[in-house]
Amino acid sequence: VGRRHVARALAPERIVRLDEDAVVILDQRRLPEEVVELRLASVGELAEAIHALAIRGAPAIGVAAAYGLALAAEREEDLEAAFDVLASTRPTAVNLRWALEEMRGDPTRDHALAIHRAEVERCRRMASHAAGLLGAGSRVYTHCNTGGLATGGYGTALGAIRTAWERGLVEQVWVGETRPLLQGARLTAWELEQLGIPFAIVADGAAAALMAEGEVDCVLTGADRIAANGDTANKIGTYGLALAARHHGLPLYVVAPTSTLDPSALSGADIPIEERAPAEVSRRFPARNPAFDVTPAELIEAIVTEEGFHRPPYAMSLPTTVQA
Ligand code: MRU
Repeated sequence: VGRRHVARALAPERIVRLDEDAVVILDQRRLPEEVVELRLASVGELAEAIHALAIRGAPAIGVAAAYGLALAAEREEDLEAAFDVLASTRPTAVNLRWALEEMRGDPTRDHALAIHRAEVERCRRMASHAAGLLGAGSRVYTHCNTGGLATGGYGTALGAIRTAWERGLVEQVWVGETRPLLQGARLTAWELEQLGIPFAIVADGAAAALMAEGEVDCVLTGADRIAANGDTANKIGTYGLALAARHHGLPLYVVAPTSTLDPSALSGADIPIEERAPAEVSRRFPARNPAFDVTPAELIEAIVTEEGFHRPPYAMSLPTTVQA
């Protein structure tokens, strides 16, 4: 697959953009089978799409919401109502509320575009820092989807893998399926295939055994919200991966922009965890569906933002403001 094709499929404006009369997204529910756009002509439609994960990933939903607020402002709609509808779609990813707050003072399309561009730029900077943590021949385990799709361009943990691959450091990527909605098996696999990076999908339950076999060198994940003490909410299953990594003496690195930091949450106990419909887990039997878990800071070797590496104690080392 040529580089131009990759650039087209994962270009920031294909993942999410604001057209004249609609927010347009790549419908992530249809990937990888179909690459189709979805036009969302109102804040209500956009909110539904975010809730249904047609667009998902912490920075990407923040960018989409910013475009939605700009659309509402151009139509002279009630911006407080639009803010509330969009903010309530997903409770865990703090980027959503952060981007909406950013838009309050200047709800224009230019401002939304600037937020989008800044998020992609942050991704590139943090990827470059995080790639520096990997040695030659790295076999990296990753969870969920943290690539261009999740961020509106380039990616957090997957961006770091991409940069490390370009530097010749990556031998293999293990992609955990990410039950129940398969962001790993559908979206991360699709992105890696286009980038030409060697990977294999594994069932989530295979992670610890792969580590025990000596087939993993490190774990790289993104984050949906990071508390002041470094406790990190991310896709359900991250906590289990962190425990397995610690048991096997492997580092878990969290890669996230400063827009994912929430200094007002003192610890993971202050982070709201989204519970989704049980039917996503089982249509036939009773089920529980927490969409995220909290990995305690003590299990995280380093948190990487666009500013660089942050090591424990995170209360001292994490930035407290978002860098422009
Ligand atoms: O429920 P999702 O698919 O929105 O969850 C996304 C994740 O958990 C990602 O790992 C996270 O947003 C960080 S990467 C941008």
